[in-house]
Parts: sequence; C-alpha cells; structure tokens
Amino acid sequence: MAKIAFIGGTGPEGMGLAMRLAKSGNAVFIGSRTEERAAEAVAKVLEAVPEGEVYGGFNPEGAEKADFVFVTVPADAHHDILVDLADAIADKIVVDVVVPMVWDKEGPRAIEVEEGSAAEQAQALLPKAKVVSAFHHLDATELQKVQKPMQGDVIVCADHRPTKKKVMDLVEQIEYVRALDGGGLANSRYTEQLTVLLLHINKIYKARAGIRVTGV
Ligand SMILES: NC(=O)c1ccc[n+]([C@@H]2O[C@H](COP(=O)([O-])OP(=O)(O)OC[C@H]3O[C@@H](n4cnc5c(N)ncnc54)[C@H](OP(=O)(O)O)[C@@H]3O)[C@@H](O)[C@H]2O)c1
Repeated sequence: MAKIAFIGGTGPEGMGLAMRLAKSGNAVFIGSRTEERAAEAVAKVLEAVPEGEVYGGFNPEGAEKADFVFVTVPADAHHDILVDLADAIADKIVVDVVVPMVWDKEGPRAIEVEEGSAAEQAQALLPKAKVVSAFHHLDATELQKVQKPMQGDVIVCADHRPTKKKVMDLVEQIEYVRALDGGGLANSRYTEQLTVLLLHINKIYKARAGIRVTGV
C-alpha cells in the first residue's frame, strides 16, 4: 500500500480523498501550514476511518515522506506552494487535483493558466516530478460520506504512462469508481474546466454531480 500526502489536506477535497484512500489501506498524511489544523483534520479522518493509518503535519514533511503527493490547495495557492515544495517533492509522483477557477457574481468561472492548465503549470514548476492530473470530478462532500459508495469516473491525464497506470490503480481502490485514461497532461485543461460546468449543474439541480463516460 502507498504513502500518500495531501498538500492542503485540511480542506474538504483533500480530507475526502484521504478518507477514501485510508479506507482502502494506504498510509495518508494530512499536510497543512499549521500543526493545529493538520491535527484537527487527522482527527476527522480517523473518526470516519478508525482503522486508518493517518498522520499529519506541515506540508513539506508530507511531501518528503510520501510516494504520491496530492495537491489539494485552492487555485490561487497552487503556484506558490509548488515553488516552496519543489525540493521536498523532487522526482516524486504529483497528483494535481486543482481546478483553476474563481467564484464571482455569476457563480463559478474557469480562469486561464499561462501553461494551459494547473497540471501543466505544476509540471513546469517541478520538472523532475511526474505530474498526473486526476480526481477533479469527485465531489468533496460525497467523498467524506465513506459508508456510501462513490459513483463516477475519474479521468486521468499524464505524459508518463507507467505513472499514469499507478494513479489509475489508486483511483480504482475507491469502491465503484472507474479510472479512464484521458491521454496526455495537455488534456488536463478539459478535465479541470469540466469541473466548473459540474458546479453550475450542481447549482441548477441542487445536486453533487460527477461524470460517467459511456461507450468505454
Ligand atoms: N471541493 C470539491 O468538491 C473539489 C472537487 C474537485 C476539485 N477540487 C479542487 O481541489 C482543491 C482543494 O479544494 P478544497 O475545497 O478542499 O479547498 P480549500 O478548502 O479552499 O483549501 C484546501 C486547503 O488549502 C490550504 N490553503 C489555503 N490557502 C492556501 C495558501 N495560500 N497556501 C497554502 N495552502 C493554502 C488550506 O490548508 P491549511 O490552512 O491547513 O494550510 C486549506 O484547508 C481546489 O483546487 C479545488 O478546485 C475541489
């Protein structure tokens, strides 16, 4: 089983993924900028998954110890946190879950990233790391309901095929969730932006939508 660190793991998405992946037997590390918030989030993950192997602390410690470094910070923190953690991450596998977006009076809106997508920005900032884009379409609230099976597909984009396969295997450790190969990292812009559309659909239907691709 893998060692997985969540950078910004104290938010709903990082905690939800940590719960699901701890439930399937991985050792998870909740990273934070403060020890107190990390400890609170560890307690919540353990409450949901009492049998879990769950640790927490400062983000750099998590990045140094993990096999997989999940990035679950808000879009406006993405660039700077990766610059800060570049040495700790080195050549590890980075799983980028970040959606470049803002909320304004019209609701959620995608924002442009110079590199094309958050995941491509991560790869540009971390040239030694193997960046994989995944998990954007799993809703944080649903993830945290660990007794309820998740539904939906996770589209995984990466340029390094063996690493993409490893992350697809991790995805499928979450009961009933299917991993789909979405091609290269350049396709991450489509999966990231699709999340913004899902948020509009959520608003219209008062739902927590995911996606299911048919025909494959
Ligand atoms: N929520 C969802 O359903 C969902 C679904 C798919 C994708 N995503 C994506 O996943 C990411 C995380 O979502 P979320 O809702 O969990 O986010 P969030 O609650 O807004 O933030 C997660 C954590 O990031 C850390 N953080 C905040 N500002 C930071 C900064 N300037 N520098 C460093 N760390 C900072 C905070 O941890 P500390 O204060 O403890 O350091 C915070 O608890 C986002 O990019 C989002 O687009 C979310």
